[in-house]
Amino acid sequence: MQEFFEFGLGTRVLYKLGLATELGPVIEELGAQRAFIVADKGVVAAGLLDPIIAGLRESIEVVGVFDSVPANSSVAKVMEGAAAAAEGGADLIIAMGGGSPIDTAKAIRIVLTNGGHLLDYQGYNVISAPLTPMIAIPTTSGTGSEVTPFAVIRDEDQDVKLSFASRYLVPDVAVLDPLLTRSLPPMLTAATGMDALSHAIETFVSTENNPFSDGMALAAIDMIASHLRDAVQTGIDTDARSQMLIAACMAGMACANSYFGVIHALAHAVGGKFHVHHGTAISIFMPYGMRFNSAIVPDRYVRIAHAMGVNAGGRSDAEVIADGISAVATLASDCGVPTRLRDVGVSEEALPDLAATAMVDGAIYHNPRVATEEELLEILKEAW
Ligand SMILES: [Fe+2]
Repeated sequence: MQEFFEFGLGTRVLYKLGLATELGPVIEELGAQRAFIVADKGVVAAGLLDPIIAGLRESIEVVGVFDSVPANSSVAKVMEGAAAAAEGGADLIIAMGGGSPIDTAKAIRIVLTNGGHLLDYQGYNVISAPLTPMIAIPTTSGTGSEVTPFAVIRDEDQDVKLSFASRYLVPDVAVLDPLLTRSLPPMLTAATGMDALSHAIETFVSTENNPFSDGMALAAIDMIASHLRDAVQTGIDTDARSQMLIAACMAGMACANSYFGVIHALAHAVGGKFHVHHGTAISIFMPYGMRFNSAIVPDRYVRIAHAMGVNAGGRSDAEVIADGISAVATLASDCGVPTRLRDVGVSEEALPDLAATAMVDGAIYHNPRVATEEELLEILKEAW
């Protein structure tokens, strides 16, 4: 076990069916007067945004609705949002959507509070003071960004994803309302669910794992293994949606404290260069990243296999671990997520560059197995 660890829970988490349209008391407690909303087109198209804004207007002035955040949001988009939020005099940021609008809102807070350019604050713990209050309302069950101290934003000039990490980035309130996730299409449900699963698995084997994050990670793996298929196949299954939303949030809390690994480093490289959906890229890399790491921390992979529902049945640890990795791959294919990089627009010639990019991605620093660039290239070739 670690000689030292820290486990922080900076976000107040509220769960209830329909909660997103009843935020008056939460707003009142925060004492805010002027809200700036950050969302994406998918949220608008699903008709989720209008009822929530109507509810908000009963308790706060809405000074701007920034609903043009794309998947894999960019530095320019953050700067545009920060300027609009400043113009409206916003004293509360409310983000609604998947990881991209929530991360964009976190980054908008940085510039809104401190001024200057977003790139001035890139890296770990560069932000050293509290930011404008924020409420995060996830509409996917994946990123866990509603409780994490991270934001990942694409630098469009260099085609790479930049990480921002500071305990001040955690949202003040996370609103878990499963009704908002019921209209998420099957493919996005599947890919974001696999992302949540990867957070739990990468956290559980990370060099920074600790007993608190372990408990949340194992519970999340069990919940996702048990409910993701139902959430994908029967989108209106409220119980499956609730289980997935809570599991993704728990996995987010775990990785907020114990970080990621090689799977995220590779997915960030592919997302930065080819704009592949984060959860899809993650899902493609999972079996290969798990196999790569399982040689170093086999005991942890036996426990992951058990959480995935694999019974040992007197077999060797190696067989149980292999079954656990197969269970993850089978879950992805049962849910219809692409399984090869070539199927999502990644060119074979780009693999060496992607390996080099992943080598310097912040997510790789806590991977249990130190990876060489050649080993990353091998994983990329396997996944291609
Ligand atoms: Fe992720």
